[in-house]
Amino acid sequence: MRNGVIAIHRDGALMLMNDDAYRIFGLTRSTDDVGRPFAEVLQGRPDVLRVLATAFELSHLPNRAELRLKDLDRVIGYTLSQVKDDEGQPIGAVMFFKDLTRVEQLEERERLRDRLASLGEMAAGIAHELKNPLAGIEVMAGLLRRQVADSPDAQALLADIITEAKLANAIVVEMLEFVRPLRLQIDRTNVADVLHQAVTLAETKATRGDVSVEIDVPSDLPMIEVDHHQLCQVFTNLVANAFEALGGSGRITITVRTGAIEEDPAFSKEPHAPLPTVVVDVADNGPGVPPELTDRIFDPFFTTKPQGSGLGLAIVRKIVDAHDGRTDLNSSPETGTRFRVTLPVNANERAN
Ligand SMILES: Nc1ncnc2c1ncn2[C@@H]1O[C@H](COP(=O)(O)OP(=O)(O)OP(=O)(O)O)[C@@H](O)[C@H]1O
Ligand SMILES: [Mg+2]
Repeated sequence: MRNGVIAIHRDGALMLMNDDAYRIFGLTRSTDDVGRPFAEVLQGRPDVLRVLATAFELSHLPNRAELRLKDLDRVIGYTLSQVKDDEGQPIGAVMFFKDLTRVEQLEERERLRDRLASLGEMAAGIAHELKNPLAGIEVMAGLLRRQVADSPDAQALLADIITEAKLANAIVVEMLEFVRPLRLQIDRTNVADVLHQAVTLAETKATRGDVSVEIDVPSDLPMIEVDHHQLCQVFTNLVANAFEALGGSGRITITVRTGAIEEDPAFSKEPHAPLPTVVVDVADNGPGVPPELTDRIFDPFFTTKPQGSGLGLAIVRKIVDAHDGRTDLNSSPETGTRFRVTLPVNANERAN
């Protein structure tokens, strides 16, 4: 096997590490490595430790993610999975990875990147070109509506034309938003304000019907350093999805609490002060995301809706990543869907 494999126990012991893993990480095997805390064996590879440390923390683990090993100037592509016992409790984790820096893979990656870059450029170009004619259709349909004021049939048709043109325009705007590189404007922000605004905006994007929305924010929640506008988009998209999943009746609960990213003592040698975070859960009691789709819903253009563009969650992930935050998903037909967004409180502590 050309791929690296590392298996760890829940208690932090290294269970297995193959030769390719040693080679890719530039480490030499010692005979007693298996059974030792993996944080010790991998202490020279803090980037890898950080990834492994999330294995028991996230319920939606990275699949085909990339990691740059800075000091080795190497890029690996990895997939992290939990190993569970018969009761479904995680007892360990496995990381599979591949050195993407190898010549042939580098070529492959570059081809892919080129293709994505030109696809992005093309998408941005088309979106831009479409904006003007769409605006034209909307304006002219509006003018025509005044000229046929006495024909209710024509009025109804023109109203439909305007609605559809608006919809197409919204997709175009979203697409431009997605392909454009993100520049954050960080300000001290009140999360409760963002959430209230997001619910209002979501009502303009999706039909709320009789859905109840409860926002629960502790009174002593700290201000967080984020891009207010971008964050508002994150929650607008999540709430709009929840409205759409509920189809007019049900409950959305948005809860906020403070948290901290603490390093599990088993995972790090030196103690670090926990990183203060704010955790926002957006939960609905809708039908849930089918398990076979959970890996795909964050992909751009993946949608199960006839009118969807499939960019909502891709934008969510892009914005949360830019804030060095985390996105997690928990969903089942019984409990509904819960998206969790974790954001660091302070922007400057994210640098490393
Ligand atoms: N709360 C939810 N409950 C159930 N399924 C969901 C939920 N949120 C997202 N999904 C699923 O994830 C898919 C992708 O969502 P995403 O927001 O990226 O795109 P979309 O809503 O289909 O289109 P749009 O670009 O208009 O947002 C949805 O089509 C839906 O199948
Ligand atoms: Mg959506």
